[in-house]
Amino acid sequence: MTATRSVVLGCGSYLPQQILTNAELAARIDTSDEWIVQRTGIRQRHIAAEGEFTSHLAINAARAALADAGIDAQSIDLIVLGTSTPDHTFPATAVAVQAALGINHGAAFDLQAVCSGFIFALATADNFLRTGAFKRALVIGAETFSRILDWNDRGTCVLFGDGAGAVVLEAQPQPGEASDRGILTTHLRSDGRHKSKLYVDGGPSSTRTVGYLRMEGREVFKHAVGMITDVIYDAFKATGTTAEDIDWFVPHQANKRIIDASAHKLHIAPQKVVLTVDLHGNTSAASIPLALAVAVKDGRVKKGDLVLLEAMGGGFTWGSALLRW
Ligand code: UT7
Repeated sequence: MTATRSVVLGCGSYLPQQILTNAELAARIDTSDEWIVQRTGIRQRHIAAEGEFTSHLAINAARAALADAGIDAQSIDLIVLGTSTPDHTFPATAVAVQAALGINHGAAFDLQAVCSGFIFALATADNFLRTGAFKRALVIGAETFSRILDWNDRGTCVLFGDGAGAVVLEAQPQPGEASDRGILTTHLRSDGRHKSKLYVDGGPSSTRTVGYLRMEGREVFKHAVGMITDVIYDAFKATGTTAEDIDWFVPHQANKRIIDASAHKLHIAPQKVVLTVDLHGNTSAASIPLALAVAVKDGRVKKGDLVLLEAMGGGFTWGSALLRW
């Protein structure tokens, strides 16, 4: 039995030039490098320059992914961009990316699932590719969270950063076995009862303003590990895979303690965990493709490797994806 799978042809990322260290933050607000590192694992984050928008980060990441895949932008017929910090309320930031790449066929749209944005975008693109509706997709996670942070709130402003990452997916016939390349399974969940635990206190319909990020950090933390491990068990069950089979665990990079606790609970060996939260902070929908790009570039993630992705964030939303590189 053959199956159509969404196979990763390439990936790429982009980070704004400016780096903001914990020490620089400690000079501005009542915090310390020691507290931030101990509680989160974050040491620095990148901050977009004045006039540098989410679309600019996304375009650079998309170009890097296309170059890595060795394909022309014209062969892309679907762009799904995960972001909660679009350039404008509308049109979608994805159409700015589409125009910059000179593509005027197919479809481009944004998807808003906060920190789970990349997993939700990946699953959406995968479903379109497997039905045959589109052939080649750019899946992007891009954020400028620095623009929605309350820089006087030490409980949130130390946690987030800006950046973008992208993958190119192609629909390919595969044998329909566990050894197939491509996305093997995706699992998406949401529970709106938690919508007030991590939100932005503005919006076009409610306040006519953009607003600032607000979070009950401890409440989010409390739910994170259980939700993450639940959807990963779903991925294992759907594919008959175990933690032993995983080559690389590339989690959403929000907090090293959450990542460590999730890997420990799942019995995933620490050396299989890709960690970039120290360098990038929490870049929301961009964090997984940014981490993927690091691990591909340094030679860890190779063709044929089994890669497990997961994310959890505002909504709450959470999800997993299991793919063979
Ligand atoms: O992307 C997905 C969504 N986000 C997350 O996954 C984040 C989930 N939550 C977390 O990562 C953690 O809850 C935080 C890192 C946000 C906070 O860590 P915590 O260990 O849960 O700390 P806490 O909120 O319980 O605060 C402990 C103390 C408090 O002081 P008191 O009340 O004990 O005197 C805070 O006021 O730490 C204080 N605090 C800080 N101190 C220095 C809070 N933020 C800071 C700070 N610097 N930046």
